Amino acid sequence: MARKFFVGGNWKCNGTAEEVKKIVNTLNEAQVPSQDVVEVVVSPPYVFLPLVKSTLRSDFFVAAQNCWVKKGGAFTGEVSAEMLVNLDIPWVILGHSERRAILNESSEFVGDKVAYALAQGLKVIACVGETLEEREAGSTMDVVAAQTKAIADRVTNWSNVVIAYEPVWAIGTGKVASPAQAQEVHDELRKWLAKNVSADVAATTRIIYGGSVNGGNCKELGGQADVDGFLVGGASLKPEFIDIIKAAE
Ligand code: G3H
Repeated sequence: MARKFFVGGNWKCNGTAEEVKKIVNTLNEAQVPSQDVVEVVVSPPYVFLPLVKSTLRSDFFVAAQNCWVKKGGAFTGEVSAEMLVNLDIPWVILGHSERRAILNESSEFVGDKVAYALAQGLKVIACVGETLEEREAGSTMDVVAAQTKAIADRVTNWSNVVIAYEPVWAIGTGKVASPAQAQEVHDELRKWLAKNVSADVAATTRIIYGGSVNGGNCKELGGQADVDGFLVGGASLKPEFIDIIKAAE
């Protein structure tokens, strides 16, 4: 089965209501390839999720940027997977490197979150990726495999999982991975899935790339055999996000 191209826009902690409305208008007016060719998911901050969901074109979808690891309750400041389901939010991003690094989320905690969110019916964009020090030490694949293993140990059905490979050194830095660097890790990751999960999961799970993707570099990156799309940060707030969606063609 061919893997459908996937383009996610992670708006992170950015935007005012006015700015969000502008971005949605730009997206709504854009001519992009059909849903058969590309799946587009945008991820506004929590407070803007209902606004974006109610105004965004129906062929694009929304994602939360995080959710709590288990059923809601006395967890001040958290938002549960059940709440997202209740609001009909189909996707959630989990394990982003900013949460791993700044909020100290361990791979095990991320794995628990992924399993819980999937069990509630959410689809998950699960992020993995190495730091510059880890890459320079030659341990990129060990790191990415360990992060993926923490998910694989807890998940049996991968049909609602997209893996986002996001080298930390490429995020928000303008230092995009070369197409060859991205392809190498995606290929290794797919081999890891084949060996440690199943050939079917390896063949069907989308592995998308994130880290300084823009309108200029998306086409060549997206042309790599094992790059099934992107998770875009900064450029997803700009009109060039449309060009990135068009890289699916
Ligand atoms: O989730 C998105 C990534 O962190 C990439 O961010 O495109 O601004 O480098 P960036």
